[in-house]
Amino acid sequence: MPQHPLRLADLVRQGRPPLSERSLLASANFTLSLIPIRLAHRLQALQNLPYIVVSNPNISQIYNNYLHSLSILLPYWQAASKGRAISTLDNEIKFTNVLAELVATHTDTIPVLAKGFLECRKYISPEEVTRFLDEHLRARIGTRLISEQHIALHFSSQPHFDPGASPTPCPEHPSYIGVIDTALKPALIIESCAGFVADICELRYGIRPKLIINGEPETTFAFLPMHLEYIITELLKNAFRASIENKSTEPIVVTIAPEPPLKHQPGEYPDIKPPSEDLGLFKSDAIKPLDDNAPGVTIRIRDRGGGIPPDVLPNIWSYSFTTFSEDDDVPSSTGNDGLGAIATASTGGSSIAGLGYGLPLSRAYAEYFGGGIAVQSLYGWGTDVYLRLKGVGKVVDKK
Ligand SMILES: Nc1ncnc2c1ncn2[C@@H]1O[C@H](COP(=O)(O)OP(=O)(O)OP(=O)(O)O)[C@@H](O)[C@H]1O
Ligand SMILES: [Mg+2]
Repeated sequence: MPQHPLRLADLVRQGRPPLSERSLLASANFTLSLIPIRLAHRLQALQNLPYIVVSNPNISQIYNNYLHSLSILLPYWQAASKGRAISTLDNEIKFTNVLAELVATHTDTIPVLAKGFLECRKYISPEEVTRFLDEHLRARIGTRLISEQHIALHFSSQPHFDPGASPTPCPEHPSYIGVIDTALKPALIIESCAGFVADICELRYGIRPKLIINGEPETTFAFLPMHLEYIITELLKNAFRASIENKSTEPIVVTIAPEPPLKHQPGEYPDIKPPSEDLGLFKSDAIKPLDDNAPGVTIRIRDRGGGIPPDVLPNIWSYSFTTFSEDDDVPSSTGNDGLGAIATASTGGSSIAGLGYGLPLSRAYAEYFGGGIAVQSLYGWGTDVYLRLKGVGKVVDKK
C-alpha cells in the first residue's frame, strides 16, 4: 500500500486538546491506518539491501525491531479491516501502550544503524548507504511523530487526562496540540540549547562560548519543539566547537527573522474539521493541508570559528562516516572528546558522536515540513548557517 505523506495538518486534525472520547478514538484509528504501512515500507527497504549487509548483527537487530513492531500492530490492523476498528476506551489504552512500546523500541536506531553500516562498508558503496539512510531516517521522523502525537493526545484527552504521564506539556499548556506548539518561541529554545551545549564545552574544554540572540526574539510560530531542539543543538555544537578550536573569543550571533505574514482574506484560514462520525479505518485519508503557505521563520547562526575547509565542504551533507577508509577504526560510540560528550548527553546515552550525522539529519528534520538548511562558509573567518522553517499556519479554534 502507498505511504501517506505526512503533513502538519494531519497532526492537528482532531482539533485542540482535551480531546473528547470520540476524537480520541478517531485519532487512534487514523494512527492505526498509517503506521503499519510505514513499518512495512521500512522492512521492504531493509530487505532490499544486500544479503550480507542485512546479516550484520546491528542491521539485523534493526530489521527485527521493525518486524516486532509490525507484528504487535497487525492484530489491530486485521480487526479494523474486518470492520472492528478501535471503538472502546479499553482498546484505545492497549493500542496506545503498543505505540509507546514502538517509540521506545526504535529509540536507538540511529547509532545502531551507523555502527552496522560502518562495519559493512566493504560490501556496500557510500552512495548506496547515504541513499538508504536518507530515506530511512526521513521516514522514521514521520513514523515517530505520528505515534508520539497520538500518545500525547491520549494523555491530554478527557478520558485519560494525565499531565504527569504525557511526554509533552500539552495538557497544561494551551498552546500545545499534542507535540506541536502553536506559539513556539525559537528564542527560548535557542537559549536553553545554548546553555546545555555551553555547559558541556565548559566541562570539556574549560571554555564557555558566548551567544547573542538578535533580530526579533519575540517571534512565535507553530512548530514542533522536539524537532527545533534537535536541529538547534546540532548547529550550536558545530558553531561552539569551531569557535573553541579556532580560539575565537567572538560571540556566536543568532538572528531570528520572521517572514512577513502572507496576505490572507478574512476567513480564508482553513478550519480544523471535527472528526467525522465514522470511526472506520481508511475513511480518513481525504486530508487537506492546513496551510502550505504559512509564513515561516529563518534563523541565522553566525560563528567566527574559521569557516569550513574547502576539502571538507563537499562532504558536509553526507553521513560522513561513509568516507572512512577501510583501515580506519570504527569510532567508538562513547568517544571521549568533547563532541562525543555532547552527542552522548543529548541523546540520553546513545551516542552519535562525531559520525557526521549532525548536518544531514538536521536538514532532514528541517525539510520534513518544507523548510531547509543552507551553509555559507567564509574560509579563514567563520560560518553562517541559515535554518528556514515553515510554520503550520493559523490554527483556528472551532467554537
Ligand atoms: N560552524 C562550523 N564551522 C566549521 N566547520 C563546521 C561547522 N559546521 C560544520 N562544520 C564541518 O562540517 C563537518 C560536518 O558536520 P556535522 O555536524 O554533520 O558532523 P560532525 O560535527 O563531524 O559530527 P556529529 O555532528 O555527528 O557529532 C564537521 O565535521 C566540520 O568539519
Ligand atoms: Mg556536528
